[in-house]
Amino acid sequence: MKYDFDKKVDRTEKYVDSLKWDIKPGELPMWVADMDFETFPEVSEAIQNRASHKTYGYTIEPEEWAEAYVNWWKNHHDFQMKKTRLIFATGAVPAISSMVRSLTNVAENVLLMTPVYNIFYNSILNNGRKVLESPMIYENGTYHVDFSDLKRKMEDPQTTLMILCNPHNPIGHIWEEEDLFKIGELAWENGVVVISDELHCDLVNPGESYTPFASVSEHARMNSVTCLSPSKTFNIAGIQTSAVYAENRFIHHKVWRGLNTDEVAEGNAFAYQAAISAFQNGWDWVEQLREYLYENRQFVSAYLRENIPEVHLIPANATYLLWVDISKVAEDGRELAKFIRKETGLWVTGGDVYGGNGNKFLRINIATARCNVVDGMNRLKDGIRKYQEKVNH
Ligand SMILES: Cc1ncc(COP(=O)(O)O)c(C=O)c1O
Repeated sequence: MKYDFDKKVDRTEKYVDSLKWDIKPGELPMWVADMDFETFPEVSEAIQNRASHKTYGYTIEPEEWAEAYVNWWKNHHDFQMKKTRLIFATGAVPAISSMVRSLTNVAENVLLMTPVYNIFYNSILNNGRKVLESPMIYENGTYHVDFSDLKRKMEDPQTTLMILCNPHNPIGHIWEEEDLFKIGELAWENGVVVISDELHCDLVNPGESYTPFASVSEHARMNSVTCLSPSKTFNIAGIQTSAVYAENRFIHHKVWRGLNTDEVAEGNAFAYQAAISAFQNGWDWVEQLREYLYENRQFVSAYLRENIPEVHLIPANATYLLWVDISKVAEDGRELAKFIRKETGLWVTGGDVYGGNGNKFLRINIATARCNVVDGMNRLKDGIRKYQEKVNH
């Protein structure tokens, strides 16, 4: 192994100001989607190199930035983008919030397949639009799209935008080409633009690959905006570097105008260089990371089967997030998460914040050194046993 993902990195140091590790002594955070690994060494070299210049003035977008994105998606995801249709954004969430404003009107519906990444709700509600949930069907311990519900909701003239998560946070699912095609056709027929958030697309099981939404048909390509970023893959969310891709020139213009009006289309002094070094040279690192995350998932899966068989881990092929059905243990995931934190110091997310049937779930982030994962699982078992004792008394 060339890179050491087993290394325990101390992120509690004051000057780091880590959101995830803003904890009480002895706690173990496995909540927000942020990895504990040091980034790909060339990314930190690029940042240090830039920092060493000691001038940090306004920065323009270098040629290599769009090239690096285009080559990464061509080489690793079999998708050809046009350089001129990529726009820099300071993050997927700022971009999505801006696009909710530029692609819809106040009081219109924005469609989500739920449970889904909780911040999508904020981007919609904070802008005076309505969330329209299409809950996914949960059957035999796994999820699928409820197409008749989705169709009915897309046909509502008030529905003008859908935000798709591909691969899907929190269920960890890579959408099949057939599902994406059907979504693309429904959206096209009903004049609903699709934002496809593909931030988790590199972190799939070894040997697997995801399908970019815009690649499945001409309709999907011409009626969508894709959010892309090295932030999840390379653990650089704090650098605030991302991109949106809209091949349709009319949508591209609207989004570009919105991002600029909202002042979220200009990178800081590190944003471009970090993305370039990641996408130019980081593939080996990503492949090794995928192996490590897969082994973490395998470990947890075996651990749960053996030690807490009453919870069910949803089968998944992407992301470093586990989606765990706790309905046989507790009525309410939020209450269980709170109890586990208080009793054991393990900090995981109660699934209610993701909507749909999320209140029957916990989301657990396993992008950390194996020793932390082992520690986390032991705490989870402890917490659940204590919860059961409390409930049974
Ligand atoms: C699906 C998804 N989109 C967006 C984000 C956040 O993106 P950014 O930090 O670029 O705003 C996250 C972070 O967890 C995520 O899971």
